[in-house]
Amino acid sequence: MKIIIVGFGNMGKTYANSFISSRFILQNDIFVLTRSKKETDLGIPEANFLENPTAKIGLYDIIILAVKPQDFSDLALRIAPFINQNQIVLSVMAGVTIETLKSKLGCSKIVRSMPNIPTQIGKGMTVFTASNQVDRKELFIIQNLINTTGKSIYVENEKLIDAATAISGSGPAYVFYFMNSMIKAASKLGFTQSEAELLVNQTFMGAVDLQNSSALSNEEWIKKVASKGGTTEQALLVFENNLVENFIIEAVFAANNRAIELGS
Ligand SMILES: NC(=O)c1ccc[n+]([C@@H]2O[C@H](COP(=O)([O-])OP(=O)(O)OC[C@H]3O[C@@H](n4cnc5c(N)ncnc54)[C@H](OP(=O)(O)O)[C@@H]3O)[C@@H](O)[C@H]2O)c1
Repeated sequence: MKIIIVGFGNMGKTYANSFISSRFILQNDIFVLTRSKKETDLGIPEANFLENPTAKIGLYDIIILAVKPQDFSDLALRIAPFINQNQIVLSVMAGVTIETLKSKLGCSKIVRSMPNIPTQIGKGMTVFTASNQVDRKELFIIQNLINTTGKSIYVENEKLIDAATAISGSGPAYVFYFMNSMIKAASKLGFTQSEAELLVNQTFMGAVDLQNSSALSNEEWIKKVASKGGTTEQALLVFENNLVENFIIEAVFAANNRAIELGS
């Protein structure tokens, strides 16, 4: 199986790296179409880097599109003449719909995905969907490729790709925001910056691992930490009085609306 990655920035490199380190795809079978300097630090042969689209693009089984959405229209004009109906296009571009991909590339086997930034360390979350022309076997191969970067779920409804953008796509930034607020509070309480960071990072990691290793719900875990009349209860009361949950839901919906807006 030969793959061409178009766009060798954060996501393009992440995919190449994950395919190689998982031994799912050999370096020799990964090709890259890039418009800037060649990168060979992953062991991909220099000859596998193309600087301009050529008829060679028609030779690869899978084409991964990892350019910014605003660069797609221009790119599509240049690669569409070389794409054939047997090839599968896997897009990671935010907001670019299957219909747009089909019409601008002139092919029909499309997989649209929404990864997130922890894919860089193999702990990503990707939500993906596909056009009807992608068969089960092809979908299975694509899911295996995606899973080299973390976990994934397939959704039938393409609208859920925008919803995933608002949850898992943007989600790491929400977590960093919450962590940062706790670090600021820890500093105000007297911890040094590095102590505060350790306290908060380990608390997040421990809580998530605990949650993942048990069958208890978040509510049940909250009850275990927050005893009646205790300290946690006081903090949670402030969250509730300030409608923090409502704000979080409102923020996720704002991200979802923006994803829809960008796609139209
Ligand atoms: N980063 C994330 O966490 C994340 C998460 C989910 C989805 N995504 C999606 O992933 C896509 C890529 O994001 P990114 O963060 O990897 O962006 P990036 O680091 O800017 O990489 C994009 C790459 O595409 C190259 N490129 C642009 N036009 C090209 C063309 N015509 N031919 C060949 N290469 C071309 C750019 O080259 P130059 O260096 O010459 O500009 C750049 O290296 C975006 O559509 C984004 O929506 C990203």
